Amino acid sequence: MDFEGKVAVVTGGASGIGFALAEQAAKRGMTVVLADVEQAALEDARKRLAESGARVEAVRTDVSQPEQIEALADQAFALGPVGLLCNNAGVNVTVTRSFWQYSRGDWDWLLGVNLWGVIHGVRTFLPRMMEQSNRSHILNTSSSAGLMAGPALAIYKVTKHGVLSLSETLYHDLASAKANVGVSVFCPDVVKTGLRDSGRNRPAALQDEEPHSPDEAAAEEALRAATGLAPSEAAGIAFEGIEAGRLYLYTDPGALEFARSRVADLEAGIPQPNTTLRADIIPKRDPAP
Ligand SMILES: NC(=O)c1ccc[n+]([C@@H]2O[C@H](COP(=O)([O-])OP(=O)(O)OC[C@H]3O[C@@H](n4cnc5c(N)ncnc54)[C@H](O)[C@@H]3O)[C@@H](O)[C@H]2O)c1
Repeated sequence: MDFEGKVAVVTGGASGIGFALAEQAAKRGMTVVLADVEQAALEDARKRLAESGARVEAVRTDVSQPEQIEALADQAFALGPVGLLCNNAGVNVTVTRSFWQYSRGDWDWLLGVNLWGVIHGVRTFLPRMMEQSNRSHILNTSSSAGLMAGPALAIYKVTKHGVLSLSETLYHDLASAKANVGVSVFCPDVVKTGLRDSGRNRPAALQDEEPHSPDEAAAEEALRAATGLAPSEAAGIAFEGIEAGRLYLYTDPGALEFARSRVADLEAGIPQPNTTLRADIIPKRDPAP
């Protein structure tokens, strides 16, 4: 992939993995468009990147709103050919709850940002990218949670399995059409970012989360303190994978254990004991209602 001189659009670009992807794009001579819902962080990120000598613009965007993605695309294509679209923005809610404890607001928020955000991004940018004469690329951020079948993370896993699946389909459809656009799906394991404080961007209309129990609060604190990869390392791995032409990108090949364990369940027809994998994030199971 020759990214030099093209435009890179990064959603969720004000923080964490998104900002690090933007830095990688800038290093390759791309003009970067940072898109994020958090205005102050977005402006701060724009300044930091500009200070490093990058050409950068910031466009406040809520990825769950298709008309805002349309406006983002108009601004990005006005700067030049879009060589890279990173559909990266994502959020999470309390990870320790059982399926039935999540509220409708939890579902609407996560599906809106994590899944619809990616769908809107692809639907809006792809037709224009396909018309360009130069090759371009789409990077969708899923998660190692997109490979997991097991307890906990109900909504997050639905969204991340969705992002993985849509990226796989897109890959094959683009290849069949001999399109000049490639796609990769990024499945990072734990990265040290602001994801555990996603609530900072939760819209008022969807604020119906139950207060956290002391157990939940303790589990979340433990996750915040958990060691994880630096965002810059994660983004470096993602770019290496894109440049090597890979569809599936991982920060930790150990994440494949989740997929293997799932296949073992599928073959057996029933979850096997190893699907308690990651059950350690649940300090205490709640009784069924
Ligand atoms: N951190 C991890 O351990 C980890 C692991 C696997 C996957 N991921 C995924 O990586 C991606 C980036 O998250 P991160 O870990 O860097 O977290 P982060 O909170 O540091 O960054 C997420 C960014 O998305 C922005 N955002 C939130 N809602 C938005 C919206 N509606 N529209 C536009 N932007 C919005 C936030 O303001 C923030 O800048 C997410 O998709 C996340 O699910 C993270």
